[in-house]
Amino acid sequence: MSSKPYFDQVAAEWDSLRQSFFSDAVREKALAVAGVRAGELAADIGAGSGFITGGLLARGLRVIAIDQSEAMLGEMRRKFTGAGDVQYRVGDAERLPLPEGAVDYAFANMCLHHVESPPAAIREMARILRPGGKLVLTDLDEHRFRFLVEEQHDRWMGFKRDDIRQWFSEAGLQNVAVDCVGENCCANSTCGCESASVSIFVASGEKP
Ligand SMILES: C[S@@+](CC[C@H](N)C(=O)[O-])C[C@H]1O[C@@H](n2cnc3c(N)ncnc32)[C@H](O)[C@@H]1O
Repeated sequence: MSSKPYFDQVAAEWDSLRQSFFSDAVREKALAVAGVRAGELAADIGAGSGFITGGLLARGLRVIAIDQSEAMLGEMRRKFTGAGDVQYRVGDAERLPLPEGAVDYAFANMCLHHVESPPAAIREMARILRPGGKLVLTDLDEHRFRFLVEEQHDRWMGFKRDDIRQWFSEAGLQNVAVDCVGENCCANSTCGCESASVSIFVASGEKP
């Protein structure tokens, strides 16, 4: 089932929820792996309230922020108006509203475990990169915490790194690498009876 109603509902509080789940170190790692440079154009896919976008703007990049949730994009507009060059697009990660070769980078933090078909979303992210462009994806390693599906509308209980490597390669990306971010995503179940702490990976690949 789509997580859109859930994210529409939590949009206004997403920044504080996000801080309780994982730290800014995840963004720092993603941007360092990409090697971003001022003036370049990045797509932030499943942008939410702009965790990755904020880091990109601070480094002088232009951003196209894409999310299924109008409410999340509304939060971003409120925060980033006057703060830099951001275009906001409502769209699906599996059918990105961008032409082939449109961007220098595609980022997706904690979006992949919500999409219906992760390989299809990765193919789309690869499609919108210009030759030499990079996809950098940060998400959860495979885990056993079912309450994240039941309470936070995750579709996938994390991923095997070998699957991620294979999907990047099948999407035509080269120099594929999957590494530890060195941070965990932490959450408690509503009953207070379960605590999840799940390691986060960073995957990168380059369009030939
Ligand atoms: C866990 S939040 C992460 C938000 C943001 N990237 C961050 O790090 O704070 C997942 C985001 O992905 C969006 N999302 C989920 N499935 C999507 C899809 N199929 N297409 C576009 N956005 C999607 C949700 O609306 C939500 O804003």
